[in-house]
Amino acid sequence: MTGPTPAVRDRALALRPDELPAYLYDMAALRGHLAAVRAALPARVELYYAAKANPEPEILIALRPYVDGYEVSSGGELAHVHKAVPGAPLAFGGPGKTPAELAAAMELGVERFHVESVYELRMLADMAARLAPDRRIAVLPRFNLPVADGSLDGSSLTMGGRPTPFGMDPAQADEVIGLLTDGSCPQLELRGIHAHLASGLHAAEQLAVSGSIVTWAVALAARHGVTLSEVTVGGGMAVDYAAPESRFDWAAYGAGLDRLAAAHPGLTLRIEPGRALTAYCGWYATEVLDVKPSHGEEFAVVRGGTHHLRTPATKGHDQPCTVLPYDNEPWPHAWPRSAARGDRVTLTGQLCTPKDVLARDVPAAGLRVGDRVVFGLAGAYAWNISHHDFLMHPHPGFHFLTGPGQ
Ligand SMILES: Cc1ncc(COP(=O)(O)O)c(C=O)c1O
Repeated sequence: MTGPTPAVRDRALALRPDELPAYLYDMAALRGHLAAVRAALPARVELYYAAKANPEPEILIALRPYVDGYEVSSGGELAHVHKAVPGAPLAFGGPGKTPAELAAAMELGVERFHVESVYELRMLADMAARLAPDRRIAVLPRFNLPVADGSLDGSSLTMGGRPTPFGMDPAQADEVIGLLTDGSCPQLELRGIHAHLASGLHAAEQLAVSGSIVTWAVALAARHGVTLSEVTVGGGMAVDYAAPESRFDWAAYGAGLDRLAAAHPGLTLRIEPGRALTAYCGWYATEVLDVKPSHGEEFAVVRGGTHHLRTPATKGHDQPCTVLPYDNEPWPHAWPRSAARGDRVTLTGQLCTPKDVLARDVPAAGLRVGDRVVFGLAGAYAWNISHHDFLMHPHPGFHFLTGPGQ
């Protein structure tokens, strides 16, 4: 991606100022991307979508033909995804599950539980005995596995391989397998092992991590004389905000997973990416409200800000963006349009905090009030991770576009 798709560009220029900011989703681009990802993966590898990346119902529905299921990480996501894509297989993960969430998941017949601690395992066993005595509930204990030194160095968000609250310590593995196989938890079935160690890994790093997880899980099972039918190796495929045109190498990753699957016949491998599936289909479109100099630099304040698109603030990057000059209507005011004098501006939002920066040092010679700015890679961890109501500005619009001019 080097800029907005034609459908996004058209809509960003067609919306009135009071209809901005807006999230624009190119649904054809999403479907094309998903088809390419699915085609790159071996048939034996299951693809679950981590709904936390973007749970808009339209997105969840568009994903359905390409994914085997959805990973949900709260009771809220569970109910929401179940409603949007009824009948789709769900895997329930996430730390700190409450008894009420576990009960809701059992009631909905969730296919898999990713269990995060021994305490949670015991709670699930107790609840299953009371609420679902005639059922077998598939469990994949999540482990925070050791990884080879440096293998998560490229990661932007590390959740494993070091002390974290995610998953269980590998030292607890024997106890957990014991509990699941010695008759202590008769309603629970040890289906496999789950791990999600980091986000932001490129294909070679992901393959190395996936290989270590599978090797560790298979060795654990062999030690206990049990058979695992599934290993989930997590998500975390890289999205490079500094190089928005680049893509995770799904072909190389798929070929590597194929080799891994071939080495372990009978084992279903599963991945659960979020960001790398939906980031590319979303744009945050807005307009320039003001342009001004400050101590040798220039700032353009746009309608909206990081309360709608928190991604650059949380990840500390500049959100990739494109300026669309706007000349559709004659300037209605007696005073001139404020314009950038230099060729670089910092794009900020309407919040009263210096942290409300969307992108620094953007080449935008001649940028004027009223011009449109379209921020890319806004289809994942964007609106849904933002602090929407700080300063009580209006919420953005949402448009799910099906083609140019739509
Ligand atoms: C357990 C689990 N699985 C999958 C994901 C998805 O990660 P990503 O969106 O980086 O692919 C996350 C993200 O935090 C996660 O915690």
